Amino acid sequence: MKIAVLPGDGIGPEIVAEAVKVLNVLDLPFEMESALVGGAAFDAHGHPLPDATLQLAKDADAVLFGAVGDWKYDTLDRPLRPEQAILGLRKNLGLFANFRPAICYEQLVDASSLKPELVAGLDILIIRELTGDIYFGQPRGRRTAVDGHFPGADEAFDTMRYSRPEIERIAHVAFQAARKRDKRVTSVDKANVLETFQFWKDIVTEVGKEYPDVALDHMYVDNAAMQLVKAPKKFDVIVTGNMFGDILSDAAAMLTGSIGMLPSASLNAKNQGLYEPSHGSAPDIAGKGVANPLATILSAAMMLRFSLQQAAAADRIESAVQSVLAQGLRTADIYSAGTVKVGTREMGDAVVAAITKTTKG
Ligand code: IPM
Ligand code: MG
Repeated sequence: MKIAVLPGDGIGPEIVAEAVKVLNVLDLPFEMESALVGGAAFDAHGHPLPDATLQLAKDADAVLFGAVGDWKYDTLDRPLRPEQAILGLRKNLGLFANFRPAICYEQLVDASSLKPELVAGLDILIIRELTGDIYFGQPRGRRTAVDGHFPGADEAFDTMRYSRPEIERIAHVAFQAARKRDKRVTSVDKANVLETFQFWKDIVTEVGKEYPDVALDHMYVDNAAMQLVKAPKKFDVIVTGNMFGDILSDAAAMLTGSIGMLPSASLNAKNQGLYEPSHGSAPDIAGKGVANPLATILSAAMMLRFSLQQAAAADRIESAVQSVLAQGLRTADIYSAGTVKVGTREMGDAVVAAITKTTKG
């Protein structure tokens, strides 16, 4: 089981170190190799996704990814910005299906910004298409590093596009995922305004006919944003495009108490996957040892389940996380009165201890 470990920038290295620690106590034959990515790779090699890093990721069964980005790279030409590394990995590995589960752990009900009764028992799954949409359309107009302007330009645009096969394959992923859950899919679009999303809606409807056991409904993205904070438990599986999925998954993350709890998996057609926390590099708290490593640790569990066929080991990690939460341990982002505040490393150690305990006992 070959794992490419790409910690990246900001809090990336701290949280990935904890996930690696957790993987190492499982006593499974992993081959882990690390490489630089994002701003860290730009600083060392002049490119956010060096060929060697991309090759390592391609040759691996799975990629464990931290986060990329820092304000200090904002003036770079776009192809050199840290974010291009994750976009490049998604595109080059064909990681079109992004799973972003939003689960509210019982112990964190009070950490959510919503009323406890709205989020208690929440378990929804956002499936975001990840290699199409406006993210990979044609950009026009480019700000140059030299003067921070768009020289000679009086407009800038990005094209939004989706092809039929791109929509069909993500729709199949969503219907199949729903079959293993509550058998309901909500397809989120903006068909009232955008042709791209009328096309999306038509094709999802067509594919849905192959899944008569799954209930399909459609929702405009603005309404979906509202419903997510009004009655989030009404959703089961949400399937949507790259851009809407980016936005809605951040909103959904907060329902769970903290975006620091949310893992994600990005899969290609061969089940090769990239696993990363849903949050970003948080440069403001980098190096302080306060970041929540649980989203990354839970991403490692998803990796074991989806790409490495180690469901039992994934269960062990997930129960260990439940158990440290039950012990009352909290990083700053999920801390509330009456719980015990811990740092990044202590949280990782506690998960390791919970796993070792179940092994022994
Ligand atoms: C995410 C992030 C990325 C995205 C950025 C870092 C390119 O926000 O994974 O949600 O927009 O997809
Ligand atoms: Mg995002």
